[in-house]
Amino acid sequence: MSQPEMSRMHEDRLVIHNLVKRDPLADFAEDVRRGLAANPKYLFPKYLYDELGSQLFEAICLLPEYYLTRAENEILSRYAGEIVGAIAMPNTLIEMGSGSASKTRLIIETLLRDQSELLFVPVDISASALERSSRILLQSYPRLWIEAFAAEYFDGLAELAKKQRGRTLALFLGSNISNFEPEEARAFLRAMRSVLRAGDALLLGADLKKDKHILEAAYNDTLGVTAAFSRNLLVRINRALDADFDLPAFRHRAVFNETASRIEICVESLQPQKVAIRKLDMEVELGEGELIHTENSYKYDLAGIAALASQTGFVCGRTWLDSQNRFSSNLLLAEG
Ligand code: TRP
Repeated sequence: MSQPEMSRMHEDRLVIHNLVKRDPLADFAEDVRRGLAANPKYLFPKYLYDELGSQLFEAICLLPEYYLTRAENEILSRYAGEIVGAIAMPNTLIEMGSGSASKTRLIIETLLRDQSELLFVPVDISASALERSSRILLQSYPRLWIEAFAAEYFDGLAELAKKQRGRTLALFLGSNISNFEPEEARAFLRAMRSVLRAGDALLLGADLKKDKHILEAAYNDTLGVTAAFSRNLLVRINRALDADFDLPAFRHRAVFNETASRIEICVESLQPQKVAIRKLDMEVELGEGELIHTENSYKYDLAGIAALASQTGFVCGRTWLDSQNRFSSNLLLAEG
């Protein structure tokens, strides 16, 4: 069967809402202007995930050093039955930041084993990743329905809160919680909680604090894929804002800050240089060794996760770990 026929076949089971801002380029331009005029300089991590960035991130998940994806996969493969069994028959599965949704398949398959239909509600900032993953899922699962939202997290949650759904299991996997500042993580979980009703639950994937060398290797792989992912943000600025970042003059850096318990991810200017950003009518000056911060990845311990849960209206349910105790999957219960 040809591709277009395939897509048409599944159209009745797929709705994609696009909540991404009406003028995304204007927002991007304004955020880049602000971030590069600031001291220290920064760029928001959400901009890492353009078409190429999303695919590079998929490649990161396959890297030998990036153990997070494999560890979480191990947990979900081994314990999906127990996880799903801890909530009474959810007929709705929400996933925030679903990306390719490949880990989600393990949960979907387990849920479909016990019921005739399932509604999957993925929310992701990348409309292209959503479109692709939704079509693949619908081809695999004839009893699956999808209502997808191309949206930023908080916009997506505000939209989801407007509608009552059946018993719901929500997923926030891949340790995406790590990329929030602690205060933002609490705001996110509170917003998530207000989408859920008593008896619903959130499965929260969180990477655990561990040896500095293991953590740093996960964000500094030897093939240089993470470096490409990081520096692709400069490529995106070159393309979208007619800038002339000279890629060889920048390198990717990721260092574990013990005190703050976070990996700090930056691009570093290797020499003093000036970068023209023509669409912003702006020239950015960078010194040798100057950093542009792009992302933090906070590493929690189980007590920290329990604290997050209790501060945001959840009750901590069970936690599952991989066989090497590197990663945690935490079931947070919405009660009362
Ligand atoms: N959620 C991922 C993490 O914190 C994001 C990530 C992995 C990332 N590698 C990266 C972000 C490199 C920026 C650069 O593990």
